[in-house]
Amino acid sequence: MNLPHEALKDPSRSGRRAGATACTTSPGTRLLIVDDEAEGRKLLAVMLAQAGMSCTTATNGAEALRILQREPVDAVIADLNMPRVSGLELLVQVRQFYPQQIFLMATGVDDVRVGMQAMREGADDYLVKPLAADMIVTSLERAFHKRQLEQEVTNYRQHLEEMVSARTLQLQNALARIERGYADTLDVLGAAIDLRDSQTGEHSRRVFLYSIEMLNALNGTPKQLKSLAMGARLHDIGKLAIPDAILFKPGPLTSEERKIMETHVQIGYDMVKRIAFLADAAEIILAHHERWNGSGHPQGLKGTDIPLAARIFAVADTVDAMTSDRPYHSALPFQAARIEIERNAGILFDSQVADVFLGIPNETWQAIRKPTSAIEISGVLAGISIENSCAAAALLGK
Ligand SMILES: [Fe+2]
Repeated sequence: MNLPHEALKDPSRSGRRAGATACTTSPGTRLLIVDDEAEGRKLLAVMLAQAGMSCTTATNGAEALRILQREPVDAVIADLNMPRVSGLELLVQVRQFYPQQIFLMATGVDDVRVGMQAMREGADDYLVKPLAADMIVTSLERAFHKRQLEQEVTNYRQHLEEMVSARTLQLQNALARIERGYADTLDVLGAAIDLRDSQTGEHSRRVFLYSIEMLNALNGTPKQLKSLAMGARLHDIGKLAIPDAILFKPGPLTSEERKIMETHVQIGYDMVKRIAFLADAAEIILAHHERWNGSGHPQGLKGTDIPLAARIFAVADTVDAMTSDRPYHSALPFQAARIEIERNAGILFDSQVADVFLGIPNETWQAIRKPTSAIEISGVLAGISIENSCAAAALLGK
């Protein structure tokens, strides 16, 4: 016989029995026999003691529950018909408080319906009187075996969940490292673009920060913020293909030269569009010279046909062009840029975006543009600082 299963016991149930009748002190399976009829109770206890089991008896359901509270029991054998608390009522309470408890129902009625009802209430088996030791032992072994299998399934499921959880974490870390690698690469590319066009200094870095600030104020999603960050940082990547004579020409461009200069949009788009994780950024690169009234290039898009990120970028780009030293003009104060954006709201710029820009104080814009090597696109792509209402300020460590 292989009955007791320590792993199945409820650890909260411990202690020594007090006042209960032990029919044997020999180690073995601990049974609780519940029967209001003294003769049947005693007979069963003697019979099972002879089979090597340790028996405790109770005369009714209430006493049985008190015993279960005090001491661990491997299995309960309860009579179905008892006064006050019936076997079924006892079963319901045992299932509520000790769901893993083995419970056999004994009945004097050989009625399938009674047995089915007991099983429905959670009994592991039902036994028909007169009871025989081998019948009880077989039933108990079956019940313990079933519990053991259930426990093994539970253990396996828990282990599986832990494994899945650990693997998920590993994958998330790996993805974060890959994304960080992308971000670092983009930072280097952005810096290379700024170096090439040294006259505009850290232009791409500043417009990236301005754009993030505005999209954040518009409650942009993390995905939108990342796309805009990448698009803004790389918006002029196509200028790498523009001849120096045109790119660095101090005076106004001829109409032919302007046409060549404008090709940087399409060149940049073609360079980036093949890279899957830059697909959204490529759209921003393509549309970064479009204007709200359709006067931009290369497609002459109008209004909301222009991607939101590109509409935001247009404001950021204009503000930075006005407030930075250029070969053809000295930096203007932020107030001048504010007037220009307000004047062209609904004409060149999306009014909603213009309002967002105008709603942010000049001091914030001044703080964002301060040179600091600590602010990079990788911070945004890594998900840092973009959940706060003032992303750029957070990026600045404020
Ligand atoms: Fe451009």
